[in-house]
Amino acid sequence: MQYDFIFHNPTKIYFGENALDNLKEELKKYGKTVMLAYGKGAIKKIGLYDELMKIFKEANKTVIEFSGIMPNPTAAKVKEGIKLVRENNVDFILAVGGGSTMDCTKAVSMGSANNVDFWEHFYMNYNIPEKKIPFGTIVTMVGTGSEMNGGSVITNEDVKIKTGVVYPNMMPDFSILNPKYTYSLSKFQMVSGICDMMSHIMEQYFSQTDEDNVSDDLSEALMKNIIRNAYICVKNPQDYNARGNIMWDATLALNTLIACSKKGDWEVHNIEHQISAYYDVTHGMGLAAISPSYYRHIMDYGLSKFKRFAINVFNVNPENKTDKEIALEGIDKLEEFFKNIGATTKLRELNVTNAEELDKIAETCYFSQGAYKVLNADDIKTIFRNAI
Ligand code: NZQ
Ligand code: ZN
Repeated sequence: MQYDFIFHNPTKIYFGENALDNLKEELKKYGKTVMLAYGKGAIKKIGLYDELMKIFKEANKTVIEFSGIMPNPTAAKVKEGIKLVRENNVDFILAVGGGSTMDCTKAVSMGSANNVDFWEHFYMNYNIPEKKIPFGTIVTMVGTGSEMNGGSVITNEDVKIKTGVVYPNMMPDFSILNPKYTYSLSKFQMVSGICDMMSHIMEQYFSQTDEDNVSDDLSEALMKNIIRNAYICVKNPQDYNARGNIMWDATLALNTLIACSKKGDWEVHNIEHQISAYYDVTHGMGLAAISPSYYRHIMDYGLSKFKRFAINVFNVNPENKTDKEIALEGIDKLEEFFKNIGATTKLRELNVTNAEELDKIAETCYFSQGAYKVLNADDIKTIFRNAI
């Protein structure tokens, strides 16, 4: 464990079929007015909305609804939520949905509790939020890990920037995880989430330190668990055990545990976020389309790690092969895995086909300093050409 780290994760997790039973007790800790934040209606279709309304009533809460949170939530939507919180003196926010609802809730929480321009203050200038409106989450779409981290990704349509911040004090107070809530996800969304969690692990795994460390071993175990259970979920979406494993994998992938003593790359996410600022791309599918091309591009700069990945995660047989052949086979297997579960592995499948526009996007990407190779815009243009 080469680099110093602090590990502190205060989010309480309630996991399982009966996890919702704990909500009433949790609600007692907060004031009377609860804001229910959710998306475009999935929570109504699965019956969760009605259950929640019953619990709020029994807990004697006044409910303010903040609905219609869209995938890739916008700064305009965050402002709507901030206004609602201020007008109604909201004491607590319950975010019910996927990463978009959870991230938007975090932005509303910090934006409404502090008297600042939320976008400039927190998302452009990275000031740590001094205050927050407490919030909890109920996860219905698995992948981002937002339920147990301080990350929040918001898209500002006016300036065409999608950007994420991570503030340790913005981790949810509690999160409720019931694998059954995810049964109704479309295959597309489920697979997108699986690619997202896989990418979160790879972004941390393919970065320094490469000295023997606990995080890399945990990462390999998580990736193997994801691959094994992803195949089960695709075949039988109602396999409770597999859906549960995938749900917990996603949380552990990005709750800072496997980040300990790792620098983190995050270039695939940087690139995907910029594509999303221009095209309405589903996050995990965008990552799946970029990853193989990106990893082939940087493979030579971290060859021993890509070789280890191939052998330990994808069981590549190393006999009579050069390190490069082994490493390349590992990336091929990764792409094959994405394809097999139904992910998009080319940008054109996401209707991203305009090479000139992609060149423009390449110029606006942020270049990660934690990567095996610090890229420049030309590198990203090449990655795009190979990913299209
Ligand atoms: O709007 P509703 O009706 O809720 O429908 C949603 C949405 O259309 C649907 N859905 C959710 N639960 C469902 C369901 N449909 C049927 N049954 C259910 N049980 O799924 C769609 C996608 O939801 P969304 O929240 O957008 O997906 P996801 O969880 O992938 O979140 C993506 C956002 O999170 C950000 C991404 O950039 C993107 O903006 N990320 C957040 C991170 C974080 N906070 O740490 C890290 C990630 O890398 C990521 O960047
Ligand atoms: Zn992600």
